[in-house]
Amino acid sequence: MISFTKKYNTLKVVCLLICIATLKVQAQEASKFPLIPYPTQLTEGKGAFVITCNTVIITAKEFNNEAVELNDLLLKGLGKRLLISKNSKSHAIKLIYDATITAPEAYKLNISTQQLIIAAKDPAGVFHAIETIRQLLPVAMEKGKISKQLILPAVTIEDQPAYAWRGMHLDVSRHFFSVSYLKKFIDRMALYKMNKLHLHLTDDQGWRIEIKKYPKLTEEGAWRTFNNQDSACMKKAKDNPDFTIDKEHIIQHNGKTLYGGFYTQQEMKGVVAYAAARHIDIIPEIDMPGHMMAAISSYPFLTCNGENSWGKLFTKPICPGNETTYEFAQNVFSEIMDIFPSKYIHIGGDEVDRKSWGESDACKALMAREGIKDLAGLQSYFINRMEKFFNSKGRKLIGWDEIIEGGISPTAIIMYWRGWVPDAPVKAVKNGNTVIMTPGEPLYFDYQPDQYSVYKVYHFNPIPKVLNAEEAKSIIGAQANIWTEMIPSEKRADYMYMPRMTALAELLWTNQQDKYDSYLKRLVQQYNRMDAMHINYRLPDLPNLLNEYVFTDEGKLSIDKPLPDLTIRYTTDGTLPGTKSPELPSPLSIKKAEQIRVAAFTTNGTRGDVYNLNYTKQNMLGTVKVAPPKPGLVCSYYKAYFKQTALMKNAKVDSVFTTSSITVPSTVKAPSFGIAYKGYIDVPSDGIYSFYLTCDDGGVLKIGPTVTVDNDGNHSAQERSGQVALKMGLHPFALDFIEGGGGYTLKLKYSLNGSAQQEIPAEWFKN
Ligand code: ACM
Repeated sequence: MISFTKKYNTLKVVCLLICIATLKVQAQEASKFPLIPYPTQLTEGKGAFVITCNTVIITAKEFNNEAVELNDLLLKGLGKRLLISKNSKSHAIKLIYDATITAPEAYKLNISTQQLIIAAKDPAGVFHAIETIRQLLPVAMEKGKISKQLILPAVTIEDQPAYAWRGMHLDVSRHFFSVSYLKKFIDRMALYKMNKLHLHLTDDQGWRIEIKKYPKLTEEGAWRTFNNQDSACMKKAKDNPDFTIDKEHIIQHNGKTLYGGFYTQQEMKGVVAYAAARHIDIIPEIDMPGHMMAAISSYPFLTCNGENSWGKLFTKPICPGNETTYEFAQNVFSEIMDIFPSKYIHIGGDEVDRKSWGESDACKALMAREGIKDLAGLQSYFINRMEKFFNSKGRKLIGWDEIIEGGISPTAIIMYWRGWVPDAPVKAVKNGNTVIMTPGEPLYFDYQPDQYSVYKVYHFNPIPKVLNAEEAKSIIGAQANIWTEMIPSEKRADYMYMPRMTALAELLWTNQQDKYDSYLKRLVQQYNRMDAMHINYRLPDLPNLLNEYVFTDEGKLSIDKPLPDLTIRYTTDGTLPGTKSPELPSPLSIKKAEQIRVAAFTTNGTRGDVYNLNYTKQNMLGTVKVAPPKPGLVCSYYKAYFKQTALMKNAKVDSVFTTSSITVPSTVKAPSFGIAYKGYIDVPSDGIYSFYLTCDDGGVLKIGPTVTVDNDGNHSAQERSGQVALKMGLHPFALDFIEGGGGYTLKLKYSLNGSAQQEIPAEWFKN
């Protein structure tokens, strides 16, 4: 008979072997097919296909352009172009027209030892297959390393996108970006199979596209003296050089320093052609009737009253009551349509301060004449009229979701951004409109990224839950927006959208959220390619760091490197860690209360985010006696709006209940409220306890006499963490939570002496 210990050990060995085998498979998969987005179906083959200078490309005539693009790609690795031929040959790369592949942009890729076959109906499909191949080729090729042969692993792929609109937006008005950066941006989009580039070409802060009929739009409107956003960037640049305003876009003019720039029509046509070759449409946005200050400065006839100033929140718009406004808008859009062949043209329509319209005789007369009942209806009149003009030119109008407010035709396309108006996309779909999802959370890539942003993008569901399957078809995809008020350089732009764009790309192409762990592994390999492409991506977060630490005798800090080539450096004197700061030992011993500032550095000296870790010395807290404690925490519920948790103490309690779970109770339906959880936490052993409080909106956790986690204020869901040293037994526990409207998130987890985060057992809560 086999003994228990032996049996147990045998079991352990078997488990270990299985684990090693699984890890090996995963590691092998990760290294062989680090594809983002991951294909719809991928089956590994046996062996490899070897491309040499003697390999021939055989192409169907439909794919002549793509054959050249594939050749351009292989040139980077072989130093020579391959022969493109119509004649069959056994060892060859074949681009085959296959009418049975009907999904738009779909392709099949079959790589065997003998041949490499790309089959598609749509040239875009062939192009996507080429980008798949690019990701399978050596990273060194991106740096121009030439080899005698290129080896591709055997594989069969069948691939097609989940969503038709896989978009990126770039605001080139608030800060300007060169043609060469636009081309880089397009290359990166193409690499990850994104297919729509929305350029926000005009705004209050600058007009960026030449319009021949109105030359002052760029002669004057493309230039400004530094504004308050420039000053804010300059201030930040003292700590982070990526905030330095790009010198390329600063000029001296008539004794003045001016910032700006614009694209000539010729230049932009070049960018459009460059994008088209990569199967990316460029969608121009000329934002009106609001956000038009740069145009109004030069053409004041556009307003109702000649004023060009800020209202309460937004600038004064152009005037829908005057025919000259329509003449201007149509002339501008006619030239825009000559530059941009895209089926879609974006008219903006967001954030319009309509007050001046209400005071305008021309608007009042128009409203009376047309039976328009309010100012939102007047905006709709403007948008609907422009839509008819767009349609007459064979184009479709896109507008930000405000355009549905006064009623909109069902043929307009709605770009949803206002996360605080959750029913806007639903209303639009029910009205018959097509919708593109770009809600601020998580798709405004100008929001500071943190350790959760990639996860949030990957797990974003573009389809609002209340839509049925038929209605869901009206959501054609999603897009990330990059507003550039605080993005004055290419490096800062790179940092803001990479690697978030890869998560969006996989969501919109693959849409299989169970691939997240595998995506993270593939992303680690993609970083090598991004390095070779000189992309200033945001370095991965340093793992498992808290906001506040405590220690009793000695604290120990050690940090796992998220990428092998990083060096972690630190300071204790309040200065920013730099390349000359000492490397963090493993562990760093902490004996006095202090702030440790840590950051990762790449081999070329790029610094990742700086983390401020506050250490406090604390005696282990003694327990309290309560006889006999009852299960659960006592909760006081306040049905009111609070900006800060402390304000709850002056409010009237609406009801009191007991609970053992820290979540937003499903019974609470009020849009704004507060809950104070009070009682004791009964911990099972002495130790340093870490608590992780995630809430939307604010929360403050107190264990014993002091605040353990401060996550107060009105904000979207964010985790903050802190520690407390506790003796085994009961300790006073108080958690104040406020919901300002919309988020309804509350989670509290713990870990003990550095263990993984876990749920707090219900029996720990007493009152
Ligand atoms: C927007 O963010 N104003 C569309």
